[in-house]
Amino acid sequence: MFSAAARKHDSKPALYADLLEQANALFEGEHDFIANASNLSALLFHGLPYLNWAGFYFLKEEGLVLGPFQGKPACVRIAIGKGVCGTAARDRKTIVVPDVDKFPGHIVCDSDSKSEIVVPLVRFGKVIGVLDIDSPNLARFDDDDRRGLEALADVFLNATDIGD
Ligand code: SME
Repeated sequence: MFSAAARKHDSKPALYADLLEQANALFEGEHDFIANASNLSALLFHGLPYLNWAGFYFLKEEGLVLGPFQGKPACVRIAIGKGVCGTAARDRKTIVVPDVDKFPGHIVCDSDSKSEIVVPLVRFGKVIGVLDIDSPNLARFDDDDRRGLEALADVFLNATDIGD
């Protein structure tokens, strides 16, 4: 069941359709915030090729704080407006960064990261965090990834009791 990476997919949309199906299965009847965030980061890390980090930052009083993730240990706190994560949270818009060295203010957590995509998590009109995915390859993410990851973020938000 949890083997998207091992299966052949004709296209990125087909891979994301598979991941969406698996996310729905993982979240079925489960609303726990930490469990669902942990499982989604694991599903993405193992299901999407060429990643070195996949996980969450959630908004606390003073900014974004590291949540469940897969990959090397990462920066714990990111202020709103700082780095790719803080910028996506501030602007409520997905940011695709083809080359992290060219993004002013990019925060280096793992020097292996070369490209990145950050999807803001918006619930009832408020940003509650971000989903951050990093790759050791330049220009790893495109519009198919944006659409696929935004759909997965929506499934996560709808399934999960965030505590609001
Ligand atoms: N590079 C991110 C920081 C988070 S790590 O990549 C996990 C940024 O600039 O926001």
